[in-house]
Amino acid sequence: MTEFDRESTVDEVLDGMDLSGLVFVVTGSSSGLGEESARGLSARGAHIAMAARDAGSNAEAAQRIRAAVPHADLSLHQLDLADLSSVARFAEQATGVLDRVDVLINNAGVMACPEGRTADGFETQFGTNHLGHFALTLRLIPLLRRVQNPRVVTLSSGGHRIADVDLDDPNFETTPYDAWVAYGRSKSANAHFGAELARRSGDGLLSFSVHPGAIVTRLGRHLTPELTETLMARRRASAARQGGGSGGMRFKSVEAGAATQVWAAISPDVVAHNGGYLADCGPTAPGPGDRGYEPWIDNAATAGRLWELSESLVGLSLA
Ligand SMILES: NC(=O)c1ccc[n+]([C@@H]2O[C@H](COP(=O)([O-])OP(=O)(O)OC[C@H]3O[C@@H](n4cnc5c(N)ncnc54)[C@H](OP(=O)(O)O)[C@@H]3O)[C@@H](O)[C@H]2O)c1
Repeated sequence: MTEFDRESTVDEVLDGMDLSGLVFVVTGSSSGLGEESARGLSARGAHIAMAARDAGSNAEAAQRIRAAVPHADLSLHQLDLADLSSVARFAEQATGVLDRVDVLINNAGVMACPEGRTADGFETQFGTNHLGHFALTLRLIPLLRRVQNPRVVTLSSGGHRIADVDLDDPNFETTPYDAWVAYGRSKSANAHFGAELARRSGDGLLSFSVHPGAIVTRLGRHLTPELTETLMARRRASAARQGGGSGGMRFKSVEAGAATQVWAAISPDVVAHNGGYLADCGPTAPGPGDRGYEPWIDNAATAGRLWELSESLVGLSLA
């Protein structure tokens, strides 16, 4: 067993590995942690299906990857998770060009955006971060089932601590919209999804959710001074409740930030934590800090109800 920690980078996690012949689908590959995951995995010989909503940004990311990894084996795909017809088109295209998927990394995300609706009428963060990936995963299951132990890695966040899912009002129809609460709910949904997929698939498929740490990326594009202050006030109050600390953030580099999702995607050491919420290249436990989580994401009844609600909202079920 190899020990990694919060400082470990993608290249350290992948050191010495030969991933030739493996196929990874990475959503949100046009920026940040998705791009870095695609770069690192392609450097070890894997084929990366880069799925992003903006074709131009995705092509630029691929160009940056090819500058660093001249032999990178990449295919570029358009995928808007905020539009279920785009998810269906992408899955159909992927099924035509990929003969298998070893690992799906559900990485794309939006954070604390202004109130909005996806093409199908869902609240933007719940619709994009959770429902889009839920539908994508279900549509890619036939490709994932072509390999013995496929993996699905879904990006959650320490931001799940802000709120658990609201199964009675998932789209803020009766609750006033709050950009942070919406992010928290969507990231709790990602953790519930990671756990419930492991419970329901029961056929060698491994599923994890990941908190990558705090990393400066384009995720913060919607932050206003007010939203930043609300978040920091929340963190200070939480640190005070836990009896210490300033609630300040310790940032990671992008290379270290993407390491946990890559570790979840390929490490033999992670198999024992199937269904788990991972951080800093390791398992976590309920409690404070980056290696901790809110106990509500362990609630199998909530995860089961979220699964059923999601199936009915997107009109798909696990084949
Ligand atoms: N950075 C952090 O501190 C942090 C902390 C905790 C969790 N996370 C999670 O890590 C993941 C990656 O975030 P990041 O930091 O790398 O952010 P990022 O640089 O903003 O990358 C997010 C990616 O998601 C894509 N995306 C957004 N909406 C999409 C949609 N509707 N359809 C398809 N793709 C879409 C973006 O594409 P466009 O550029 O075209 O919008 C971009 O490629 C997210 O799930 C985030 O919640 C990040």
